[in-house]
Amino acid sequence: MNGSRQATDPASLGRHFGGKQDVLPLWIAEPYVDLAPSVVTALNDRAAEGWYGYETRPGELISTFWTWMIDRHGWDGTGLTSLISPSVGTSLGVLIDQMTDAGDGVILQPPVFTDFKPIITSSGRAVARNPLVMTDAGYRMDLEELAVQAADPKNTAMILCNPHNPVGRVWTPAELNAVAAICAEHGVFVIADEIHADLVLPDNTFTPFGNAAAGTGVVWAATHGPIKTFGLAGVCDTVVITDDEAVATRFQLRSSQLHLTRNNVFGLAAWDAAYRDGAPWLDDLLALIASNTALLANGLPTGIELVEPEGTYLAWLDLRQLGMEVPELAQWLALSAGLALSPGHWFGREGAGFARMTIAVPPDRIREAIHRLTVAVTAG
Ligand SMILES: Cc1ncc(COP(=O)(O)O)c(C=O)c1O
Repeated sequence: MNGSRQATDPASLGRHFGGKQDVLPLWIAEPYVDLAPSVVTALNDRAAEGWYGYETRPGELISTFWTWMIDRHGWDGTGLTSLISPSVGTSLGVLIDQMTDAGDGVILQPPVFTDFKPIITSSGRAVARNPLVMTDAGYRMDLEELAVQAADPKNTAMILCNPHNPVGRVWTPAELNAVAAICAEHGVFVIADEIHADLVLPDNTFTPFGNAAAGTGVVWAATHGPIKTFGLAGVCDTVVITDDEAVATRFQLRSSQLHLTRNNVFGLAAWDAAYRDGAPWLDDLLALIASNTALLANGLPTGIELVEPEGTYLAWLDLRQLGMEVPELAQWLALSAGLALSPGHWFGREGAGFARMTIAVPPDRIREAIHRLTVAVTAG
């Protein structure tokens, strides 16, 4: 796969990375490769129509999504309500607003995607921390501590990240079932952010939280959509799924109140093309992620290790052996290694000493990143 797109303009790179604009940008979570030809053609064709007014959302939009889900993950939407939402962040904000009260706690598992915390705190809710634990076998949930957090009546919701950004875990049915059982026991509403569901590496399987939750009685909603898989965050909508009528009704009410339901004509075209014809492109992307993972695992200099990813196109690098404090490491990555990575502390204090690198890129970018890291480590 070719392509060298980057989402970031030089000025923004400079702002985020110590004034340095010529850093190699590998920090934003999206594929930096040529996107699916079916999608590009559909968008060009739609643009050529020269008409961009109101367009009714086609009835098949949701069924196209579910056909994809059945084909890729064996998950079918029978008995579930699927609602359209402009973005995952919007869905999280609306669900927190509707399903929790001001002052409540929302459980998070840091290190975790940076946007969760501001969405919670700007809604007047508090973050309840249930950090992941790094073991010799990789990251694990601290289920004992989760039970303590869930038993606290202040904590009424949890955002689960499955697969997990940034550590790359694809949670197993047993892990998800344990979360569901704990949250069911204590009446904690679970929002499963499953936007990386399609990005699962060989020998791993995505389990929808909804399947693992069946029979536990937990109230849940999940977020899905083509935006991460196909690099369509700038055009496409997302989906909120739930089996709970009250959750669906409240979500819909708030959506209508805020008028969140207007269609983007390009989003409709891209969605259809991605889910109908994008599978071969995604298979190539997954092969690229797997081979880039191997490149990194074998090529990183002494002192930097790759935390073996199970999913996502985000590599979680362990740089703790370099012995740098948080600001020093961030500076070193940008100024000494010339790399725009997301320093691990952005994802919570447990991320200190780590960095996240987007690896859905042509292999020469990975080689270049390895080279820059090696030169910087050697220079000391
Ligand atoms: C886990 C996760 N959720 C949500 C998002 C952002 O979704 P949106 O732009 O639709 O709010 C990202 C983006 O990287 C993500 O990694």
